[in-house]
Amino acid sequence: MNIAFFASHQGSNMQAVIDACRSGVLPARPCAVISNNRDSEALVRASREGIPAFHFSAKTHPDPEALDRIILHTLRTQQAELIVLAGFMRKLGPKTLAAFRNRILNIHPSLLPKYGGKGMCGRAVHEAVLQAGENMTGVTIHLVDEEYDHGEILAQCRVPVEPLDTVDTLAERVLTIEHEYLVSTLYKIITGELHLPAVEK
Ligand code: GRF
Repeated sequence: MNIAFFASHQGSNMQAVIDACRSGVLPARPCAVISNNRDSEALVRASREGIPAFHFSAKTHPDPEALDRIILHTLRTQQAELIVLAGFMRKLGPKTLAAFRNRILNIHPSLLPKYGGKGMCGRAVHEAVLQAGENMTGVTIHLVDEEYDHGEILAQCRVPVEPLDTVDTLAERVLTIEHEYLVSTLYKIITGELHLPAVEK
């Protein structure tokens, strides 16, 4: 199974999956990393790992249609079969979404539909969880559609909020779980234990 990643910043979730592929835990091959951020750590990681790495953004392709086309072309050229958005801060274009419908996953650091949607990323999610006084948060892995954090939920795991948590301690606890949970969920998908909906023709 060839996995392509989209990541805008650190790419630590992506790295966890790459490590699992390298160690043989995950029967998959990282085939491409695409970032909208030329300076992202995710692209540095990709180069270090010898994975084809691409920077595509409104800067490289000001016309959104052209951007969508080059992204789709790259995914096809690299023979991507499954796509993982791991901290990707942009929406994918309609051609890419249609071509990979039900084969694009996103990982989100809350129990969606709570604390998702536009602007709900990174620290903002954990800040909102703490402000609401939640004693439970978690990780969601879902299919990607046209809306932020909106597609069908595939897997969710709960992570407790501790009474003395700050945004930093909570973010760190959730991120650690994300790394394990993304790998174990991908394992289930790849081995057929967890079924993705059929590819739409
Ligand atoms: C993670 O919290 C992920 O759930 C969210 O963005 C963050 C990315 O972290 N979508 P990293 O770049 O994988 O370290």
